Amino acid sequence: MKTSILFVCLGNICRSPAADGILRTLKDEYSFVGEVDSCGTAAYHVGKKPDSRMRKVARQKGVDLDFLSARQLAVSDFSTFDYILAMDEENLANIKRIMPSNAKSKVRLLLEGADNLNVPDPYYGGEQGFVDCFELIEKGLTNFLEDLKKANL
Ligand code: 4NP
Repeated sequence: MKTSILFVCLGNICRSPAADGILRTLKDEYSFVGEVDSCGTAAYHVGKKPDSRMRKVARQKGVDLDFLSARQLAVSDFSTFDYILAMDEENLANIKRIMPSNAKSKVRLLLEGADNLNVPDPYYGGEQGFVDCFELIEKGLTNFLEDLKKANL
């Protein structure tokens, strides 16, 4: 059985779509990864493409985010995904608020165990914030995948 992974942030237009797009490009390298998706805890941007600033940074790094569109976290996600990975502690608290008692998903921070636990929200900042955010997600995701690989050996 492959491992399915859902990334969650607040709006599903900056951080979680970046993680989603990056992981899709890494699926050949980490062949144990199955379904990949992302969503937001809030509904503000449902149906919208990722933020143009994040799409630009991702494109420069060879990651296409143009086909993604925002959706809100649903209770059914807890029976679909093996892992639900939150971008920050506020997202994690909001995920846990609607998590059913029979959830199959393991719910945790993407950066669990790191010095800085949170991927900062770049939405109200400048362009460099999007670059830093993308690179932090890339690094955190690689660490997560390597840990999972070791655990599955
Ligand atoms: P995200 O960033 O949670 O990484 O998608 C945000 C996007 C939109 C808003 C906040 C954060 N907003 O307030 O509209």
